Amino acid sequence: MSIFDEIKVFSGNSHPELARDICQYLKIPLGKSEVFKFSNDETFVRIQENVREKDVFLVQPISAPVNDNLMELFIMIDAARRASAGRITVVIPYYAYGRTDKKDQPRVAITARLIADFITTAGADRVLTMNLHAGQIQGFFNIPLDELTSIPLLASQYKDKNMDDLVVVATDVGAAKRAHDLADLLGTPMAIIEKQRYGNEDVVEAVNLIGDVKDKCALIVDDEIGTGGTVVAASKILTKFGVNKIYCCAVHPVLSGNASNLLAESNISEIIVTDTLPVPANKMIPNLKVVSVSNMLGEAISRIHAGLSVGAMFGH
Ligand code: R5P
Repeated sequence: MSIFDEIKVFSGNSHPELARDICQYLKIPLGKSEVFKFSNDETFVRIQENVREKDVFLVQPISAPVNDNLMELFIMIDAARRASAGRITVVIPYYAYGRTDKKDQPRVAITARLIADFITTAGADRVLTMNLHAGQIQGFFNIPLDELTSIPLLASQYKDKNMDDLVVVATDVGAAKRAHDLADLLGTPMAIIEKQRYGNEDVVEAVNLIGDVKDKCALIVDDEIGTGGTVVAASKILTKFGVNKIYCCAVHPVLSGNASNLLAESNISEIIVTDTLPVPANKMIPNLKVVSVSNMLGEAISRIHAGLSVGAMFGH
């Protein structure tokens, strides 16, 4: 049993629906707070109930508008800390800036690290997140961090479909581990695409493919769909190499710019993503399906509160 008698969950403006679903799993009401912007563009946060010595969870995936939602998160943490919360866990199902995790060009920032510092300085005690772009981002924090994976949840969507000749496809060499985990759960072989990204532009090209995909059904897997360029380029090279049918799954539906249209016009039969980020109605397309991670996050929150293993949720 936790030393904090009560769980309190609050949401910023990023994804209140997910926060409500998490609360439904936990069988508690969503905490009352006001989070808004003044006319001068400054963000205001007030927690509207007592959180003194409570186990506080702040749900805020870093969705667009990314910088506004980050600022909300920092101010929510500060408000909870100054209200004498017993412990503050930030629940960030999607950690934006995850791709800015190293100095891979001269004189660039490591923004993923900078944000980790802001979160810690604001007063967070723990982090709960999902499928970071790179595992080493965990080490950017000097506070405990739990990273959940939705690969088993995505795998469960295909288990009953009896797809013959399925092959899991990694969108690039860096994604091979994720694809391997999914292929392992589905008992299928895998293939890897060699991807080329041009400069800092959102332009990608699939230049080669390693593995046997001819006359098979391909399941492309990625951590996130941003502009959609990566998975659409993957689908094109798969067609060139003779696949029969193409499916795609990804954890985080960033869906920036023209992504939804690109995906709708692609030759991908179905795209499954999770609700780590909200998918606004104008971005929903017929071949896009969203599965929820709310129960998984709710279970992790209840385990963190009770001091139980979170790894045990994944058989560790
Ligand atoms: C890249 O390393 C990531 O794993 C994704 O492939 C990438 O973020 C997808 O972005 P986009 O959809 O813009 O190509």
